[in-house]
Amino acid sequence: MNEQKKSSNVVWHQATVTRKRREAANGHHSVILWFTGLSGAGKSTLAHAVEERLHQLGARTFVFDGDNVRHGLCSDLGFSDADRQENIRRIGEMSKLIIEAGVIALTAFISPFRADRDRVRALADDGDFIEVYCCASVDECESRDVKGLYARARSGEIKAFTGISSPYEEPENPELVVDTGSLPLDECVEQVLVYLREAGVIGNSEK
Ligand code: ADX
Repeated sequence: MNEQKKSSNVVWHQATVTRKRREAANGHHSVILWFTGLSGAGKSTLAHAVEERLHQLGARTFVFDGDNVRHGLCSDLGFSDADRQENIRRIGEMSKLIIEAGVIALTAFISPFRADRDRVRALADDGDFIEVYCCASVDECESRDVKGLYARARSGEIKAFTGISSPYEEPENPELVVDTGSLPLDECVEQVLVYLREAGVIGNSEK
């Protein structure tokens, strides 16, 4: 959002320890694994389970989770369209820094708006942004209702709740669609790992 840019007279400082050197030292590439889907679709669960596997393989990783980030960095934001847009902008910028650090960033945000996700994609170089659609219907998420939020949204207590009273725009061309609504977790994890191997993000020897 350049129109909001207030900083001028700032000059980019080029690091001598570059992303390339960090990736070489780590033995894998850094990417943004962007998990998107409804509340309760299993984004955080999948992101953490993928991270667990990657960590065991010796990869450097970090998960950004919507609920956690909203306790700190984004605690000033609510759930209006504009606040969600700003939430995703901040996480996008942060993810970009994280991949410069040679780390695989795994983000678990509803990120309901296509335009917001596409802005993050545009921030990243080709191949650096991997959109993973955690596909689970409102019915499936509502029947689980792990946090009890769907019931509170239905009663009107929580306003602008995604899937109930606020839209979710499905990805049109995600790199990966994972059927988190019906597949067991280990199968979902495997799908992501296979993608990462095929894309050359991690080596084939890393089983
Ligand atoms: S996003 O829309 O801006 O991407 P984010 O992923 O950070 O959302 O936060 C979503 C989480 O906040 C949900 O998993 C849920 O626990 C909680 N939440 C609270 N109010 C809402 C709401 N109105 N809509 C969706 N999620 C909400």
